[in-house]
Amino acid sequence: MSVLFPKWTNVLPTVFAVGALGGAVAAIGGFWYYATPKFWRVGYMPTQPGGGFNHQLHVGKLGMDCRYCHTKVEKSYEANIPNVSTCYGCHSDGKLSKLTEDPVHKEKTEFIRTAYAQDASIPWRRVHKVPDYVHNFPHHVHINAGISCYSCHGRIDTMPVVFHAESLSMSWCLDCHRAPEDKVIPKDKITNLAWVQNELKERKAGKAMSVEAQQVLDALQKAPPENCGACHY
Ligand code: HEC
Ligand code: HEC
Ligand code: HEC
Ligand code: HEC
Ligand code: HEC
Repeated sequence: MSVLFPKWTNVLPTVFAVGALGGAVAAIGGFWYYATPKFWRVGYMPTQPGGGFNHQLHVGKLGMDCRYCHTKVEKSYEANIPNVSTCYGCHSDGKLSKLTEDPVHKEKTEFIRTAYAQDASIPWRRVHKVPDYVHNFPHHVHINAGISCYSCHGRIDTMPVVFHAESLSMSWCLDCHRAPEDKVIPKDKITNLAWVQNELKERKAGKAMSVEAQQVLDALQKAPPENCGACHY
């Protein structure tokens, strides 16, 4: 429910009442459908539990690959969030001993050891979610088609706190489905977000696709779908 009818739609009965009088329903409805969804989620940045998880630090500074934690991105229909034992592997009492002696660091990471000791999971708040009526979004298909995390999630490696960088609106999906050649890159660069950002910028300015990228594009089984049924019931 909450996904289909966010809080602000509470004003809709009023809008419809006004519309019935003034015949403005079509105009407002049109605005609602075609203009709003494109922008309303960009920037969404929920506060995460405990000391949170800093991608800028772990990926940008420490150089960890996305797949160290999001282990299933190439294989599964939905991406996964790592469980607490992945964090505990580095943040147990024994490891990083110099750091855990630092009281500030110790306090910021205590929620990991607490959750681990209680065999509990950390209640991360979800950032990206397509509405339920979009029944088909195979995450892994996109990775395997040479689409980088960058194209859909932005520069995660520079984010101290994850936020919504792209709209995930229907026209956003379709823009890429109509011109995948603008986004397809060699698969070994998928998680190298800085490289991808630069490459796509240069390509937009007229640089030709590399041979490797062209091969990935040519290998697509079929063109990305534009028919309604591919994504909706
Ligand atoms: C050390 C583990 C780790 C690494 C490495 C890592 N992540 Fe994450 N990621 C997490 C955790 C934990 C969360 C959930 C907390 C949050 O959203 O901040 C998360 C959340 C996310 C989300 C938001 C999920 C949602 O709720 O919508 C995206 C997108 C994401 N990561 C992408 C990436 C990308 C891209 C990379 C590589 C550039 C990466 N991550 C590397 C642990 C990791
Ligand atoms: C490969 C080792 C490794 C893994 C796995 C890892 N971390 Fe870290 N983490 C570090 C290191 C090293 C630091 C300290 C970096 C620094 O201060 O420069 C750190 C720092 C932190 C901090 C303190 C951040 C700050 O702002 O000072 C938090 C919180 C944290 N990690 C949470 C997590 C969570 C949650 C996970 C699991 C999703 C995780 N870490 C997985 C190595 C790791
Ligand atoms: C074609 C666009 C696209 C690409 C490429 C992409 N993602 Fe996503 N990602 C999404 C969408 C859309 C969602 C929300 C999916 C849903 O609601 O089922 C999502 C969700 C996620 C989540 C949250 C899963 C959860 O259950 O909370 C994580 C983590 C994530 N992506 C990580 C990554 C990583 C890492 C990469 C690169 C290896 C990547 N994504 C590449 C579009 C993409
Ligand atoms: C940046 C580019 C890009 C974006 C954004 C994108 N897609 Fe795709 N999508 C592709 C490509 C490329 C393929 C073709 C994959 C293949 O044929 O192997 C594809 C294929 C698909 C397929 C067909 C999968 C199959 O098994 O044949 C579905 C369904 C789909 N995308 C849904 C979505 C939805 C829903 C969104 C928006 C939330 C979205 N896509 C956003 C590039 C993108
Ligand atoms: C590539 C996947 C994809 C295809 C193909 C697609 N849609 Fe969508 N559609 C979406 C996504 C994703 C959303 C959710 C947009 C959002 O959350 O802002 C959506 C939302 C909608 C909505 C809700 C209003 C809105 O714009 O948010 C309607 C109605 C709709 N689609 C109808 C259609 C029709 C009719 C077709 C065929 C002409 C179609 N869709 C084809 C992905 C797709």
